[in-house]
Amino acid sequence: MTSTLTPILTKFWDDPQSWTLATYEDNEGYQALRKALDMKPEDLVQMTKDSGLRGRGGAGFPTGMKWGFLPPPDGGPRYLVVNADESEPGTCKDIPLMMAAPQFLIEGVAITSFAIGCNHAFIYLRGEVVHVYRRLMRAVEEAYAAGYLGKNILGSGFDLDVTVHAGAGAYICGEETALLDSLEGRRGQPRLKPPFPAVAGLYARPTVVNNVESIASVPPILLHGSEWFADMGTEKSQGFGIFSLSGHVKNPGQFEAPLGITLRELLDMAGGMRDPEKGLKFWTPGGSSTPLFTAEHLDVPLDFESVAAAGSMLGTRALQIFDETTCVVRAVDRWTDFYKHESCGKCTPCREGTWWLKQILGRLEHGQGSEEDLEKLLDICDNILGRSFCALGDGATSPITSSIQYFREEYIAHLTQGRCPFDPAESTLFH
Ligand code: NAI
Ligand code: SF4
Repeated sequence: MTSTLTPILTKFWDDPQSWTLATYEDNEGYQALRKALDMKPEDLVQMTKDSGLRGRGGAGFPTGMKWGFLPPPDGGPRYLVVNADESEPGTCKDIPLMMAAPQFLIEGVAITSFAIGCNHAFIYLRGEVVHVYRRLMRAVEEAYAAGYLGKNILGSGFDLDVTVHAGAGAYICGEETALLDSLEGRRGQPRLKPPFPAVAGLYARPTVVNNVESIASVPPILLHGSEWFADMGTEKSQGFGIFSLSGHVKNPGQFEAPLGITLRELLDMAGGMRDPEKGLKFWTPGGSSTPLFTAEHLDVPLDFESVAAAGSMLGTRALQIFDETTCVVRAVDRWTDFYKHESCGKCTPCREGTWWLKQILGRLEHGQGSEEDLEKLLDICDNILGRSFCALGDGATSPITSSIQYFREEYIAHLTQGRCPFDPAESTLFH
């Protein structure tokens, strides 16, 4: 399959003042909301199911099905919470989307809230990105002033308030139930599931938690139809998505394309490797929590099923690209330091395990480890994977086990040479 870019959410990012309501309205903005308010909420849920839209936050759970899990209305509140806590290493799609075209998200919030019967929606934003917070606040104000939010939206009788909440900067608060605890004012730690948020979420009320890009995709789907969306991508991974390319690539950035595109095609669009003489060594298909791929995976279609069949996960489509100047042990050591730091400490395998993983990787990278250390790493990973309370623990093991699978000899070279065999001056990453 040969794919081209499908600029939909990214269509007018280059326009001057792309973030304003005026620009959005010039680009069919809020036409979908007008259409939605004339529809029955259950038809909107069905349309989303028919489109095949799957969660764009990483897990790929069918969005319409998630909305359909809400119990029937009982007169009490139900909530929409947008997970805007984008923190997966390498992932850079929701933040640029909110900076360049925040009204896509706000219109999506209004349509989704109408579909699920919610009158108060929340956008939970990563704490460090103060500039995004300001931009979102301004965009929400503009939407209120134009009558797209607030009381009696566009004369429909539907009321919706939107609160933008900035967290305090913890990776774990991107886990949906830790996010809800944090939003309620508690320390952000994952809750036991079930009950899923659809049944007992924010303030123990039925809640839909969706990623920014998922919600922003709703207005174009409604405007152009579920078939239009379902015709893009592959049979089970339908539609388009934003792929973020970073690392040793000539033109890093966001590339919006149908699911199923390959890294080879995306690399062509991004101008190729930084230095054509230095080949691709390894890459992440969906952020550092997904097992590494190598040059042999350049033609794996980037859809949920094909990436899983090749031994990794599509995750957040964060393609971090490393050429042969990069020491894989050093890269994995850096990522592991991140997981150790971000482990919330609730469960023992992750809290203790990530600490030990970091100790061992640190000494291996500096040539002070032993051959036993490799088996120890794999043993600790085995004791974390599937035994942790949430996905953070599992994710921490992915770069380690996959790097040992593909680059065992590079770990051994650190031991035999008693130092890292790479020249730090050559690589611009991880030094
Ligand atoms: P999950 O597969 O457990 O759940 C996915 C969604 O489906 C959740 O909203 C969950 O509530 C819902 N769900 C699943 N089964 C359900 C059921 N039986 N009834 C009702 N709802 C149900 O995945 P999780 O733990 O939410 O997310 C893990 C993913 O997050 C990873 O694959 C990773 O790619 C991604 N991730 C993204 C980050 C980012 O910065 N965007 C950061 C870290 C991880
Ligand atoms: Fe916390 Fe890690 Fe356990 Fe998740 S796996 S609950 S982040 S300690």
